[in-house]
Amino acid sequence: MNDMLARRRRRPMVRRVLGWSGGLIVLALLAAAPIAYWRSSNSCEDRTIAAPVNPMKAVVYCDYGPADVLKIDTVDRPTLADDQILVRVRAASLNPLDWHYMRGTPYLMRLGTGLRKPKVIRLGVDFAGTVEAVGSQVTQFKPGDEVFGGKTGALAEYLAIRESGPVVRSGQTVLINGASGGVGTFAVQIAKALGASVTGVCSTRNVDLVRSLGADQVIDYTKANFTESQQRFDVVLDNVGNHSLSKSRGVLAPGGIYVMVGGSNESKWLGPLGRVVTMAVSSPFVSQSMGFFLANLNKADLTILGDLTRAGKVQPVIDRRYPMSEVAAAIRYLEEGRARGKVVITME
Ligand SMILES: NC(=O)c1ccc[n+]([C@@H]2O[C@H](COP(=O)([O-])OP(=O)(O)OC[C@H]3O[C@@H](n4cnc5c(N)ncnc54)[C@H](OP(=O)(O)O)[C@@H]3O)[C@@H](O)[C@H]2O)c1
Repeated sequence: MNDMLARRRRRPMVRRVLGWSGGLIVLALLAAAPIAYWRSSNSCEDRTIAAPVNPMKAVVYCDYGPADVLKIDTVDRPTLADDQILVRVRAASLNPLDWHYMRGTPYLMRLGTGLRKPKVIRLGVDFAGTVEAVGSQVTQFKPGDEVFGGKTGALAEYLAIRESGPVVRSGQTVLINGASGGVGTFAVQIAKALGASVTGVCSTRNVDLVRSLGADQVIDYTKANFTESQQRFDVVLDNVGNHSLSKSRGVLAPGGIYVMVGGSNESKWLGPLGRVVTMAVSSPFVSQSMGFFLANLNKADLTILGDLTRAGKVQPVIDRRYPMSEVAAAIRYLEEGRARGKVVITME
């Protein structure tokens, strides 16, 4: 009896301690957030003090914002480590990822990229160019080799990258929502090359383009809603995210796979996170698989892509080319979300 009374007395005490601890943690976070925000900085000021020893031109941004924050600056060429190759970049293609980094949106990403200012001040990922020099341990490349790949800071005249660098079964049916953009034009061709039967979703002006890339069937989204189709697909590759998850999943065959690549840009704070969480929560209750695909740049996949390109099975679709000096105009164009294939920056 005495024990029971003592336990009852202890419970409110435990609750109070937990409540105070929780409150203190929240207060500490609230106090730390503005400090972390104002302390977040980047190397922009240091660069104006030290002049580059071995200069090259690169696209640089010191603050988050619209395309006007982009500058062509003179920076140091990357130094070459023993296991790296130095590439003279001939062209770099833009991705919506680049303008997300430039604007720092969705804001959640700033936890990693820098709260107030971008930690990494260089932009670009995908590049093509020529090997200029190789490190002492490099065995697979030599100067003069034509290469392509992905590395942060690709919007520059040179980059250094280490030497060491999605697949559907034949006969599967794949629906690609957003078939005419930078991702879609590659996805249609790769899925075809891997033996899939491909349905592309795009607007009227891009129907011929998507068909010319090999799509077996094209749905014009201005005339029909693919989520109302009676057809069932093994894979839905969604680059747009303009239909609810349950509706998009509705066109999947039992056991099919919904792959979210992009879209859902309507939330400036969370970006695609809402849909990612919905997928995780509903996954155990449905017969199909759902997942968020994040590009993983690795040698094995790039080798397959290179082989497909050399064999003429995959051809990059280039919408527009801009010289490096017009990178801001190029990003502005990409931000409109109307690109037909890739937007490319050429290094003058
Ligand atoms: N997860 C990853 O690793 C990864 C990698 C790269 C990109 N992404 C994301 O994937 C998404 C697509 O990237 P992207 O490079 O393809 O973008 P993009 O090139 O800017 O896409 C533009 C294309 O989308 C089409 N489009 C616009 N609204 C559409 C709709 N309602 N239905 C079908 N098509 C529509 C446009 O055609 P119309 O103007 O004719 O409509 C245009 O051809 C972006 O959100 C990007 O951030 C993710």
